[in-house]
Amino acid sequence: MTDHRTRVLREDEVRAANTLFRAALHMKPAPDEDWDRTRHAYQPGRTLGVFDDALIGTARSTDSDLTVPGGAAVSSAAVTGVGVRADRTRRGVLTELMRAQFADFAERGVVVANLWASEGPIYGRFGYGVATHGRSSTVRRRQAVLRPDVPPGGEVELVDVDAARAVLAEGYARIGRRAGMMARPDHWWNYYDGALRRGDDPVAIAVHHGGRGVDGFVVYRVGRAPGGSGVLTVEDMHYDDAAAFAGLWRYLLSVDLVDEISLVYRPLDEPVDLLFTDPRAVTVTGGGDETWLRLLDVPAALAARRWAGEPLVVEVVDPVLEHNAGRYLLSEDGAERTGEPAAVRLGVDALAMAYLGGWRPSALARAGRLWLAEPGIVHAADRLFAAHGAPWCGTFF
Ligand SMILES: CC(C)(COP(=O)(O)OP(=O)(O)OC[C@H]1O[C@@H](n2cnc3c(N)ncnc32)[C@H](O)[C@@H]1OP(=O)(O)O)[C@@H](O)C(=O)NCCC(=O)NCCS
Repeated sequence: MTDHRTRVLREDEVRAANTLFRAALHMKPAPDEDWDRTRHAYQPGRTLGVFDDALIGTARSTDSDLTVPGGAAVSSAAVTGVGVRADRTRRGVLTELMRAQFADFAERGVVVANLWASEGPIYGRFGYGVATHGRSSTVRRRQAVLRPDVPPGGEVELVDVDAARAVLAEGYARIGRRAGMMARPDHWWNYYDGALRRGDDPVAIAVHHGGRGVDGFVVYRVGRAPGGSGVLTVEDMHYDDAAAFAGLWRYLLSVDLVDEISLVYRPLDEPVDLLFTDPRAVTVTGGGDETWLRLLDVPAALAARRWAGEPLVVEVVDPVLEHNAGRYLLSEDGAERTGEPAAVRLGVDALAMAYLGGWRPSALARAGRLWLAEPGIVHAADRLFAAHGAPWCGTFF
């Protein structure tokens, strides 16, 4: 790219970046009252702008951390607000934003970056891979009768929107995190506080009280489908254990004037249908890639997660961040660089797909995304990358 300047935006330029981003998504500018909240979601010094004679592209990020298989958390940058002015696309502006972000993340020592992609073809070329998936489904309330062995659960209580942030932050901090879940930093809660207050239908926030305090919550809205039936849409739901899961479901099924409960991008292995005497009360309606992951510091990322089974040498190919390229010995003892020949070779995007356990090496090999020195290694590779449970983020940013 030539004749462009890229720099961190000043605080007084951030609203223009928000307007540009919204326009790229075909949305009107944020009204003043909304912007008063949204601006607090912008972490200072983290919004990039690309200029020619005006601002033509932007991207921003927020500090967070990401839980990896084995339970450790690595430092992460949650990337969002990516947009290029419609009359300046396909000229390398996003490529420049990605380059500048990677340079900034390297300076900060960030181990991974993650994002929600608006479209599938955008981020793979920069080394991002689909790391978590979500599944959407509909529960027909009258058909959804709880089985007698479902735990009773604790008390569920509605919380006012003004109190929600503090109560939900306390609850979220208490919940055991699966791989793919992230810390919800203050800037994210600032965004969320605004999101709770937007929308045509009023928001409802219900929290579950376990023995140690709030250990689960569900945020939902009830609207009317075109035929007039009541639809309760779950926007955010987290819980620590089986009692909180059951308690929240008992509550959801008790809400009046609801015919269907709509679940959006829930974990692939969340056993909602197993709660009911008729598992067909639940119909899968959709789903797909949830978050995309970029391993920025491959040695640190590999050292942070748990590996299982027999050791293998894995070669990583990374044409964008070349310091990551090389061979690593992965074993129950950790990860270290090695000069030994590789048993497995894959691109850094495919590594991101396997890293949290979202894709098995055998599936990647079948699709030509992973090379094996010999076919028999595939079982050891699957064991090596095995993770507990389906990875899932569950935080939209
Ligand atoms: C997606 C977007 C940011 C891409 O910006 P851009 O400046 O056009 O991207 P670049 O010119 O740097 O593209 C780099 C490469 O990616 C490809 N690419 C970029 N966006 C693409 C898309 N949406 N679909 C397919 N390919 C895309 C380009 O064709 C180019 O490929 P090439 O190097 O082989 O020519 C821009 O189109 C946009 O603002 N879209 C609307 C808002 C949006 O979806 N934002 C992302 C939110 S997650």
